[in-house]
Amino acid sequence: MPIRLQTPLPGPRSRELMALRERFVARGPFHATPVFAARAQGALIEDVDGNTLIDFASGIGVVNAGHAPPSVVKAASEQAGRILHAGFNVTPYEGYVRLAERLAAVVPCAGPRKTLLVNSGAEAVENAVKIARAATGRPRVVCFEHGFHGRTYMAMTLTAKEKPYKEGFGPFCAEVTRVPFPYCYRWPGTSDPERVAQECFAAMTAAIAPEKTAAVIIEPVLGEGGFVPAPAAFLKKLRAYCSEHGIVLVADEIQSGFGRTGTLFACEQLDVEPDLMTLAKGLAGGLPLAAVVGRAELMDAPVVGGIGGTYGGNPVACAAALAVLDLFQDGSLLKRARVIGEILTVALEAWKQRFPRIGDARGLGPMRALELVRDRASKEPDKEAASGLARWCWEHGLVVLTAGTFGNVIRLLVPLCITDEDLAEGLAVMAAGLAQR
Ligand SMILES: Cc1ncc(COP(=O)(O)O)c(C=O)c1O
Repeated sequence: MPIRLQTPLPGPRSRELMALRERFVARGPFHATPVFAARAQGALIEDVDGNTLIDFASGIGVVNAGHAPPSVVKAASEQAGRILHAGFNVTPYEGYVRLAERLAAVVPCAGPRKTLLVNSGAEAVENAVKIARAATGRPRVVCFEHGFHGRTYMAMTLTAKEKPYKEGFGPFCAEVTRVPFPYCYRWPGTSDPERVAQECFAAMTAAIAPEKTAAVIIEPVLGEGGFVPAPAAFLKKLRAYCSEHGIVLVADEIQSGFGRTGTLFACEQLDVEPDLMTLAKGLAGGLPLAAVVGRAELMDAPVVGGIGGTYGGNPVACAAALAVLDLFQDGSLLKRARVIGEILTVALEAWKQRFPRIGDARGLGPMRALELVRDRASKEPDKEAASGLARWCWEHGLVVLTAGTFGNVIRLLVPLCITDEDLAEGLAVMAAGLAQR
């Protein structure tokens, strides 16, 4: 049995550290569990009290290739022994350009591609907006309801949910227009993807002044918004509209990228070629690294010295990212991701038949979620059921995360190297928790 609990959770050492955290760490950062991690491997986390938990969160979709894959650890350690920091804007180094070369080969954007490396997802989003504005000379950015793009000022402005992400932090950035997201389950009057795509596209175009618009930024599968895939038909219309009006289409694949949906990027399955992509999380297997990748002529719009930063593309993070890409290269991890996606789809659909609390079971590949409701007819969100289930899970040794604008979604971000045994035990914990709701 992979889950081994020696103490009730949180254990005494976790409690001690939490007291220290409360004394010395700002209250703002949130924890999905009160359990302090000591080490992790594959899909298992060992806490500071010697308990072993199964991880269905992957550090919020970061350790897609599993915790501490030996080849990634080796590449990062060897690089750390050679040079920890050089500053790409002081003395450039090979890892940065090799990673840019590798990313250019795998992103689904048209034509020649270039890359900018930065440190976090939010920073990638900020830079995508700067690049789009520099390339078009236009001010406006269009974003979507239920979207999440990070916590810096532009990224936070582009983020939809007010509480907690924007509470008390205004005023926000100017020149941002928010339009509806094609959220089939909650679309009024229909949940047919084709009709939702059509109606949503009409609502979007009515709200936009295309000649003033530099960029449209969209998560092809909403992450924090609750794992809602945009219908391919919507993305197709959006692509055509952006091309027609010279608008830069930015796909934020920070959460959906690097195998999370069963292909390296969700855009591949949804059959859309964005102009720019923002990438982070899974990119470097746990080290802080993010990227804007896209069409070379757009990426070259900012003047020399206009984008970059002290730490962006740190050599150790680049070495880790190159090793992560090696892990994806032969296709076996993606194949496993698709198998996990099938196992999760079957399990979640079966639960939907059994548990009336589940209003919707959805996702793309292994990026799967359950939306919990008080009543299937009214679809009233049941946030308490979601937080109660997440709590029940960690108390029983399984880490899962909630999501969604209404906080009523349980999302599964399983490390894609998880064994069948660990996956089955984690699902059994969830099923037992659902039976209690
Ligand atoms: C889609 C998406 N964009 C941007 C971000 C922000 O990334 P970071 O937390 O690295 O700034 C996130 C983080 O959850 C995300 O899911």
